[in-house]
Amino acid sequence: MVKAIRVHRTGGPEVMSLEDVSLEAPGPGMVSIANRAIGLNYIDTYHRSGLYPLPLPTGIGMEAAGVVEAVGDGADLEVGDRVAYCSAGFGAYSEAINLPASRLVKMPDGIDFEQAAAALLKGQTVEYLLQRTYPLKPGETCLFHAAAGGVGLIFGQWARSIGATVIGTVGSDEKAALALAHGYHHVINYRSENVVERVREITAGAGVPVVYDGVGRDTFDMSLDCLQPRGLMVSFGNASGAPEPLDLAVLANKGSLFLTRPTLLTYTAGTDELRQSSRDLFSRVLSGDIRIEVNQRYGLADVQQAHRDLEGRATTGSSVLLP
Ligand SMILES: NC(=O)c1ccc[n+]([C@@H]2O[C@H](COP(=O)([O-])OP(=O)(O)OC[C@H]3O[C@@H](n4cnc5c(N)ncnc54)[C@H](OP(=O)(O)O)[C@@H]3O)[C@@H](O)[C@H]2O)c1
Repeated sequence: MVKAIRVHRTGGPEVMSLEDVSLEAPGPGMVSIANRAIGLNYIDTYHRSGLYPLPLPTGIGMEAAGVVEAVGDGADLEVGDRVAYCSAGFGAYSEAINLPASRLVKMPDGIDFEQAAAALLKGQTVEYLLQRTYPLKPGETCLFHAAAGGVGLIFGQWARSIGATVIGTVGSDEKAALALAHGYHHVINYRSENVVERVREITAGAGVPVVYDGVGRDTFDMSLDCLQPRGLMVSFGNASGAPEPLDLAVLANKGSLFLTRPTLLTYTAGTDELRQSSRDLFSRVLSGDIRIEVNQRYGLADVQQAHRDLEGRATTGSSVLLP
């Protein structure tokens, strides 16, 4: 038996409970992993609340790093391998789990379990957003919301290292200071400043070619207003709720805008792109271009508090659960 967080009905943080579950020997192509650090991600709150429905009852959590403890037939890993995952299945909030070997990445020397669990999902997201959804070029300016969050602190550092000018938005002055220390050239506090006016000011009236918007409902319209004609709106999350349905004429009226709603799962669907994306991320962490900030740590039994903190905007950078 292993301890795992289970969800029997959707709702608030209280629907998550710590239970004993049995762990079978891994089947063909699968391995058992003893999780050493588990990544907390906003998507976990959508699975818990039912915004993104999962068949119930279910395990929860997508990301962790740990050690391979048992190997099923045909799985290309060995007992003792250090691995991380973030798109292999649900149930990472657990002491141990069985997952397909093809969806795991080996951790390079020099990366520890906490770093990997704090970085993989968020960092691979940054990788595809700024290299593949809208390939950001040196000298271009971009806008990113929730700049002091888990994805946000990685985004600022990575985008600056490309040579882009990075504008971020945040919900407090403390978060503004943190974002400025993690790559952002300009940070706007959207509680006290007008984001559209400030972005127009910074870009000499032009607007930005791309907005990466993981906040959703509260920022969607202002994001469109920050774009230059034929700019790209990348709506990749719903921290404030899902954006309202859109009348396509709005995209025409605001300057022939483009809109995409990407997911990490689509951008790392193939094993090769999954591994390439993680290699790219880890090499930037190892070179020192990207520092991973683990600013909150919780025991597995404190998962309800972890979700309250994340949804209550009380966290910065990454959070991990320690089993
Ligand atoms: N599509 C994908 O592939 C993908 C992959 C990974 C993550 N995501 C999305 O990226 C976003 C960031 O994820 P994360 O795990 O790094 O979370 P996070 O940014 O650490 O936390 C969310 C942040 O959103 C901001 N926010 C604005 N309005 C909010 C509201 N009403 N309630 C709660 N927070 C609000 C808060 O920052 P302020 O206080 O500064 O406003 C908060 O700290 C999420 O929307 C997530 O779903 C998408």
